[in-house]
Amino acid sequence: MACTDIATALSHSTMEIQEPQLMPASDHRGVDAPRDAVSVSGLTKVYKASGRTPDKTALHAIDLKVPRGSLFALLGPNGAGKSTLINILAGLVRKSSGTASIWGYDIDKQTRMSRASIGVVPQELNIDPFFTPKELLELQAGLYGVPKKERRSEQILASLGLTDKAEAYTRTLSGGMRRRLMVAKAMVHRPPVLVLDEPTAGVDIELRQQLWSQVKELNEAGTTILLTTHYLEEAEELCDTIAIINHGRVIACEPKEQLLRRLDSKELLVEVDAALRVTPPELEAFSPELTAPNRLLFRYRASESPVAGILDALSRAGLTVVDLRTEEADLEDIFLQLTRGAHDAALTVPQEHVG
Ligand SMILES: Nc1ncnc2c1ncn2[C@@H]1O[C@H](COP(=O)(O)OP(=O)(O)OP(=O)(O)O)[C@@H](O)[C@H]1O
Ligand SMILES: [Mg+2]
Repeated sequence: MACTDIATALSHSTMEIQEPQLMPASDHRGVDAPRDAVSVSGLTKVYKASGRTPDKTALHAIDLKVPRGSLFALLGPNGAGKSTLINILAGLVRKSSGTASIWGYDIDKQTRMSRASIGVVPQELNIDPFFTPKELLELQAGLYGVPKKERRSEQILASLGLTDKAEAYTRTLSGGMRRRLMVAKAMVHRPPVLVLDEPTAGVDIELRQQLWSQVKELNEAGTTILLTTHYLEEAEELCDTIAIINHGRVIACEPKEQLLRRLDSKELLVEVDAALRVTPPELEAFSPELTAPNRLLFRYRASESPVAGILDALSRAGLTVVDLRTEEADLEDIFLQLTRGAHDAALTVPQEHVG
């Protein structure tokens, strides 16, 4: 329970955080701020064999840059290496080789400053149940050497919708509230980089929306956010830059819009006023699929824009269009394509972005 947490935290505090390292929020965008909030190069992690489990290379010499000010999503299937990367940045897992820096500070050579520059919400919730949220934040602030007059526990709790629970025992908080409390805890020393490992896992839809807007606000106020998520709509809605990691390798890293444009495929679903048994010859050139007697599904490359031609052919075939709908590729399509390794012709991977 508490004792181990506190002991670990205290040993960190004496070893790594001996004096206040608060950075005023304004510095997050200052002239001295680095171009990349996080930068890793050739980062490798091999978990050593134990018992019958052989060595496991969780990260294979990855290169990754998280631009300052970005809201950056790290996506990947279970076991891809996301938490390993985050835990290395947080100082919870020791890397095997390579370099990593946070806010320009090397995690080996400038450990104290690199730790002070990052706030991490780990995937596993480990909150001491016997403190109240307010006490927990005060304790955390103490560990990071935040002077009393600069502490903002109440403000942080309010920003995460936890004012009502400030004095409640943490064990009485729901799962979603605990997760928000973890976010609050990671913010007490005002780090310029906030890392959230699956921040909305197990959080209900309404609270997820709230957390999203809180994360957006933090980002707009200058904090660089790195998050992992399995909810692709979360990354699509929230993030401006997306990296995909698979089997310990970065297989994509680029601005969201650019990633979404990669899958050059679109669908047009047309409902007509007749029951068809076969595709009319006028439409054969477009190879539609007859999904129901009155429904035709056309798949095409977005860049080819054949819609006018399709409508023209439909009218030549004597068909009246009752309804039509188009669908574009979304992040889920791209994610599945990339992580399944199905590099079909429609998917082009710009090599300069791949770590
Ligand atoms: N302490 C450990 N000892 C040995 N192997 C580990 C350890 N932690 C993680 N691994 C292995 O390293 C690989 C990457 O795990 P990691 O937790 O980084 O994945 P992840 O991308 O965060 O997955 P998830 O989406 O399930 O959280 C996995 O194969 C996992 O089994
Ligand atoms: Mg994980």
